[in-house]
Amino acid sequence: MTTLAILTAAGSGTRLGRDLPKALVTLGGFPLVVHAARRLASSGVVDSLVVTCPAGLDAAVRDVVAQDPHVALPVRVVEGGATRQASVAAGLALAGPDDDVVLVHDAARPLAPPQLVRRVVEAVRAGHRAVVPGLPVTDTVKRVAAGPPAAGGLAVERVLETPDRALLRAVQTPQGFDRGLLVRAHAAGAARAGAEGLAATDDAGLVEALGETVHVVAGDAAALKITTERDLLVATLLLEEES
Ligand code: C5P
Repeated sequence: MTTLAILTAAGSGTRLGRDLPKALVTLGGFPLVVHAARRLASSGVVDSLVVTCPAGLDAAVRDVVAQDPHVALPVRVVEGGATRQASVAAGLALAGPDDDVVLVHDAARPLAPPQLVRRVVEAVRAGHRAVVPGLPVTDTVKRVAAGPPAAGGLAVERVLETPDRALLRAVQTPQGFDRGLLVRAHAAGAARAGAEGLAATDDAGLVEALGETVHVVAGDAAALKITTERDLLVATLLLEEES
């Protein structure tokens, strides 16, 4: 029985304001997707990798990931879709019958440590069929009313509730699943995959929508998500600390 990791790298990453897709932006001289792939490989619990890539960039992504000496795993590259959900579905289509565990990990979290990867896989192999890493939330979080902000002037939103912070977790990747459950969750949610406003922002959300249980294991601050230039600066510092 084997573990397949789907590494999502098909996003455009426009918020970083580069000409390059985010996964190919470099951190300490290497693309984000390479950092993420190295850590998945060095966890020792991943058997093969499927990387989702932006249209037309298959060869570029294959070159940087498959030829990296620290990614000693079989690597396949598949073109992603219009949303992250669609990209994961494209990767999941390549899972084989022996891949009993599937991890889904974002190249946008390049420094997720090998211990975190192992923790997630261990929890799935212990019988928890859907596992996400999560961190306690330090900010107080408010739920606000849906709807566009007021046109012109100061944008204000109406607060609906303040959930108990002690029970909130900020969820990261890699997320780990029993393959059959993840396939069923993506099939059931397929109608949402085409549009950004409808699509699931994580895979556990699709499992929850099925009514199935999702478990949380301890996350890791190093698994931060790169969205802005500031995140890239923080990641650069963390990388320097690692060496
Ligand atoms: O854009 P965001 O940072 O939320 O994307 C999360 C992850 O999903 C990134 O690693 C990105 O490359 C990936 N993604 C994808 N296909 C899309 C959109 C995002 O693989 N259509």
